[in-house]
Amino acid sequence: MKRSLNQKLINLIEYYSLNNSNLLLDNVPIKRTADHKISTFTGSKVEKLQKLKRSIQSIKNCELKKNATNIVFGDGSIDSKIMIIGEGPGANEDIEGKPFVGRAGKLLDKMLAAIKLDRKKVYISNVVNYRPPENRKPNDEEIERYLPYLKNHIEIIDPKILLLLGSTALGALIGKDVVISKARGRWIQKEIGSTKPWIIASFHPAFLMRQPEQKKFAWIDLKMIREKSRILNI
Ligand code: URA
Repeated sequence: MKRSLNQKLINLIEYYSLNNSNLLLDNVPIKRTADHKISTFTGSKVEKLQKLKRSIQSIKNCELKKNATNIVFGDGSIDSKIMIIGEGPGANEDIEGKPFVGRAGKLLDKMLAAIKLDRKKVYISNVVNYRPPENRKPNDEEIERYLPYLKNHIEIIDPKILLLLGSTALGALIGKDVVISKARGRWIQKEIGSTKPWIIASFHPAFLMRQPEQKKFAWIDLKMIREKSRILNI
């Protein structure tokens, strides 16, 4: 019995090596979704953003896109040194085609105003650019699909400070092995393509509306951003 099992295993290994496949022996997770590589865009910042937007608009077979009214690409100053990433558009954002214009957006505006930041002077986008139906969270496949576009978006804007709002943005750009309550309020510097912003995560305004007692932590994070902006001369 043991022998035949061993033989089966040897056969299997031979089969996979014949097929030039190291799936059996490799501990890298198998990627089940296609790699959606996007080209590096050229031209001015405005042109690069237009090309990026067009390439997102030409995404095929996407459930989010099929159900959405508008693309929600980005809003604010494209020359800002502060970029904010949320999760994905909600109903109001889907109608207006702009991120954070609903109730969570109003709270975000107030949070920014508390550290003397006008929302028009920062740049805001989301992990996914189309509204997930029923306001559900984007799933892993959707996040993975939009991630190259998001990274490209960040590269083009080239911020010095990147604020990730909530666990979806944190998971997409830093990793899913950290929870937002532990990861928030810490600076890390990370390469995203050709850019290397200082990154901080904080609670999502929609979460803060449900759990207002957590606002004190968001306030700490906001003050850290104010201080970092001062140090970086932003
Ligand atoms: N929540 C988000 O994460 N993004 C938006 O644009 C609006 C609400």
